[in-house]
Amino acid sequence: MSTILLMSTMDLRDDLSFGSHEVRTWLDAGDPAEVEYIVVWGAFALDYDTLPKLKAIFSLGAGVDHLGDLSGVPDGVAVVRFVDPLLTEEMTSYVILNVLRFHREDPWYRDRQAAGEWEQIIPPAAGDVRIGVAGAGELGSAAAKALFDLGYDVAVWSRSRRSSEGMQSFIGRGALPDFLGRTKILVNLLPLTDETRGIWCAETFTMLEDGAYVINAGRGASLVEADLLACLESGRVAGAALDVFEQEPLPEGHAFWTHPRVFVTPHAASLSNPVSIGDHVMRNIVRIERGAGPIGLVDRERGY
Ligand code: NAP
Ligand code: GLV
Repeated sequence: MSTILLMSTMDLRDDLSFGSHEVRTWLDAGDPAEVEYIVVWGAFALDYDTLPKLKAIFSLGAGVDHLGDLSGVPDGVAVVRFVDPLLTEEMTSYVILNVLRFHREDPWYRDRQAAGEWEQIIPPAAGDVRIGVAGAGELGSAAAKALFDLGYDVAVWSRSRRSSEGMQSFIGRGALPDFLGRTKILVNLLPLTDETRGIWCAETFTMLEDGAYVINAGRGASLVEADLLACLESGRVAGAALDVFEQEPLPEGHAFWTHPRVFVTPHAASLSNPVSIGDHVMRNIVRIERGAGPIGLVDRERGY
């Protein structure tokens, strides 16, 4: 039995179960010197000097950017992100929903409905719709494969990983203009790192096909909101589905709330399932206690 400290801005205390492990919350942490594992969501400052027994920090999400700079984490402490088939399945359905929305001109049909107008347009064949998925990891590669199976012309962009399945792969910053130049619908599933902060901006939006669509389910800080609004205004970008924002919750009165070409969801594209989190943490504790590497181990140098 290990001692787990649960620190979360999501109120999951009643839903999460870690079997027979002793679970403390940050409100009632007791002696930090006894804590072996931390399960966390949110920007909590951790004083590692007070945590001599700490073996791993588990993020309650796939991303770890909320943990801030990882360079201060002591060497022997593993940083582990959440990897889960249900999380991947949910993200895939969010991406498909929004690709279909734009491919099948749903915003245009909603306008026709509001005006009571009976008008039809023939959509392009899926094979003529070029989709670019930025991030070919757990989530990006599954979404890309699902879109490919629906017949779309899919390419992926990553730092190093190539996709299989006949999709084109673009690797590294140098390949970004070519990747974007063939992209009508951009899907962002990159983690937030120093390299990806602000990556979707006026410069990169103008590399996309004219009248492109942007789907952001990675992190809000990867996208410069003022630049997106300007590109929506000019028509350079025809529409956007946004799940993540520079500031969350999205502030009252923000232009995205009422923009006719922006489809907002409240960081809900793929929510961590509490049962899966419990299983993931408990399975990884067994692995760590046996000296095996945890599933979802984060590379602290890369930041994801
Ligand atoms: P992952 O498995 O670590 O994959 C990350 C991908 O991004 C990898 O393909 C990686 O390239 C690529 N990448 C990282 N930095 C890059 C760079 N500078 N240039 C090009 N490619 C880069 O992560 P994941 O599990 O798919 O999750 C991705 C992100 O989704 C999370 O970090 C989180 O921010 C977000 N997310 C959002 C929600 C939501 O509800 N909105 C839910 C879950 C996750 P390599 O393959 O070459 O390493
Ligand atoms: C959610 O945003 C996650 O990182 O899982």
